Amino acid sequence: MAKRRLLFGTRNKNKLEEIRQIVDSSFDIASLADIGLDMDVEETEPTIAGNAILKVKAYYEASGIPTFADDTGLEVDALDGAPGVYSARYAGPGATYSSNVEKLLAALEGEQKRTARFRTVIAYYDGKDLHTFEGIVEGVITDEPRGVGGFGYDPVFLPEAYEETFAEMPSEDKHTISHRGRAIRKFAHYLIQLP
Ligand code: IMP
Repeated sequence: MAKRRLLFGTRNKNKLEEIRQIVDSSFDIASLADIGLDMDVEETEPTIAGNAILKVKAYYEASGIPTFADDTGLEVDALDGAPGVYSARYAGPGATYSSNVEKLLAALEGEQKRTARFRTVIAYYDGKDLHTFEGIVEGVITDEPRGVGGFGYDPVFLPEAYEETFAEMPSEDKHTISHRGRAIRKFAHYLIQLP
């Protein structure tokens, strides 16, 4: 049987690799680069789910291929859920992973309540049906960065019930418990039962 083609609305090679490993091999997952779609969608919605839906609809309209897209944010309780949808650009224009982490640690200086969670929403749209799949991992923000693996806020995120930050643990362990891993597995579950 021919593989069913899906478009993943991302430019991130790590995410693409991750999803190809998890999703059933009967699906042919193409990236934006694979289909030559050079298009950026501005994330203007106030929620993670809203931005995932915004992206999936735009990429579907442009490609005509059943599409999924994801959006992720780190929500810190003592900061009323910030950086949230602004996680990528928390430190302002030109923000980098390390300037974002620095700003986060400065904002939490002296703060005892350090609980936080990563939230990922994957949105899927085939021109008719729209579905979302959410993955969450709870944890705390450490006082200092620890570890060199992963990316983004991984060096300061200590998942609940673990002693290593996401940047200290092997990537397979991170994927087993991570927000994105959880959302991807829910999505994969949905895909394999499609007619
Ligand atoms: P995106 O929506 O997946 O691009 O994520 C937005 C921002 O959240 C990224 O720029 C990272 O700073 C952060 N982020 C997303 N996923 C992770 C993760 O797995 N670990 C650490 N930071 C992440």
